[in-house]
This record gives sequence, structure tokens and C-alpha cells, in this order.
Amino acid sequence: MLLDISDVHVSFPASRGTDREVKVLDGVSLHVGQGEFVAVLGPSGSGKTTLFRLAGGLLRPVRGSIRLNGADITGKPGHIGYMPQQPALLPWRTVLENSLLAAEIAGSERQTAERQAREWLQRAGLAGYEHAYPDELSGGMQQRVSFVRALLGPQLLLGLDEPFGALDAMTRLEMQLWLGDLWQESGRSVLLVTHSIEEALLLADRIYVLSAKPTRVIAEMEVPWERPRREELLADPAFARLKLQLYQAMRNQAGGG
Ligand SMILES: Nc1ncnc2c1ncn2[C@@H]1O[C@H](COP(=O)(O)OP(=O)(O)O)[C@@H](O)[C@H]1O
Ligand SMILES: [Mg+2]
Repeated sequence: MLLDISDVHVSFPASRGTDREVKVLDGVSLHVGQGEFVAVLGPSGSGKTTLFRLAGGLLRPVRGSIRLNGADITGKPGHIGYMPQQPALLPWRTVLENSLLAAEIAGSERQTAERQAREWLQRAGLAGYEHAYPDELSGGMQQRVSFVRALLGPQLLLGLDEPFGALDAMTRLEMQLWLGDLWQESGRSVLLVTHSIEEALLLADRIYVLSAKPTRVIAEMEVPWERPRREELLADPAFARLKLQLYQAMRNQAGGG
């Protein structure tokens, strides 16, 4: 087991000036195996970003633990890579310099990191843009730089937080297929959180479904398709069936807690 999130509970103050607390995560357990692509599917506000703050050590659970490769990393930052909801590129750094940021923070050797960065930027379709600045790129291209940056960090596990939410539908589908291909080449393990059923089905090996808060895991599904996955999958009746099944799992509990 690479990542093992076990029975985590998190509450936040309901509002300023009250002692009342809102329970957000109510005993969530999930795991990611070596080389596995796992998606967590949950409605907005169910605590998906909170899961990353826990795994990233920025937040401590009231109860429960987070282990990476068997070691307790609860409350310990720096052990998982993270690609945020917005690309969050530094505007004064070029594409190449932005993509080197995670490696730089980790203290990786510059020459090796730069060679890898150039390789991955090329795979990401960004050859020729190494010295461009973020504001010269489209939204999709910025997300690719953000992904390459996360990939170049030393962490074994990459957390992707609704990475394509801000893109238009066409670009989003292209980026999802692109990400699936690149992930296959990278050999990394990925935990993706999303509210998009299609995104989870297109990308993941396995899907966890979260309830609305107080949040629990309400379903788990193995995704059967081989890789690489192509857009034709969208027209596959089996795809439609699993999509409906996930939709019903999410709907049946909405407002039930
Ligand atoms: N620091 C915080 N203080 C108070 N409430 C918070 C805090 N962080 C998140 N929340 C609440 O916890 C819930 C889950 O938030 P979040 O993890 O961002 O959800 P998601 O990413 O699934 O949309 C939301 O209701 C949010 O308002
Ligand atoms: Mg979020």
C-alpha cells in the first residue's frame, strides 16, 4: 500500500463566534496502491480539498491516520506532490523555470532536473514554449505546465485537485486523454479528486464515491477498461451503464445526512 488514509475525521468551526462545529469528514478510509490511478468522486463541499490538506500534512485529523509506504505522515508536510485546482504558475518565471519549481524546493540537482523538465515539456506538447511566460499560454497549456511541475517533484504520489474544472468541455476532454497517456509513461501513483463522473471513469483504475458532508465513502468501483483510453469510450454502452450507476450512488445519498 502506497497511501493509506484510515478513518479520518475532520470538523471545522461552523462560523465565527460560535463553538458549534460542522463535521466534514466522518470516518473516511481509502488507499492508493503503487502505480495506481485512484479517483475520489464527491459533490462540491464534501471535503475533497480537505483530504489533500490532510495527506499533505497541512491539517491534522481529529481522529485517524495517514500512512505513506507504511510510515505515519499524519501532520507531516512535503510527502505528496500536489497539482492545485488553478495552475498557480508564477507569472515572473518562464515555463521552464515554473516547471522546475517543485524540484527546486526539494533540492534536486539542477542539471538533471532541467533535462527531465525539457523532456516532459516536450511530451506535454510544450516544446518551443520553454522560455515563454504563463500569460502567453492558454488555460490548457498552463495546466500542462502545472502537471509537469508536480510530476518533477520527488514525491511518489501525485495529488490532483479537480485539475480541469476551469477548462471548456473540448479542452477538458483533450486534457483528460493527455493526462491518462502521460500518467502511463510516468509510472507514478495518482490520487485525483473530482466532481466529474466522466473524468473519474476516463482516468481512474478505481473510484471511491463520497457522500455529502458529514462525508463517508459510500461506494467503490473498479474501472474495467484497458489503456490507453480513447474518446470512443464515451460511446460505449458499458461506459453509460457505469456512469448511471455512479450518478445514482451520488444522488441516492444527497441530502440524506
Ligand atoms: N478552514 C476551514 N474553516 C472552516 N470550514 C472549512 C475550512 N476548510 C473547508 N471548510 C468547509 O469544509 C467543507 C469541505 O471543503 P472542501 O474540502 O474545500 O470541499 P471540496 O473540495 O470537496 O469542494 C466545506 O463546507 C467548507 O466550507
Ligand atoms: Mg475543492
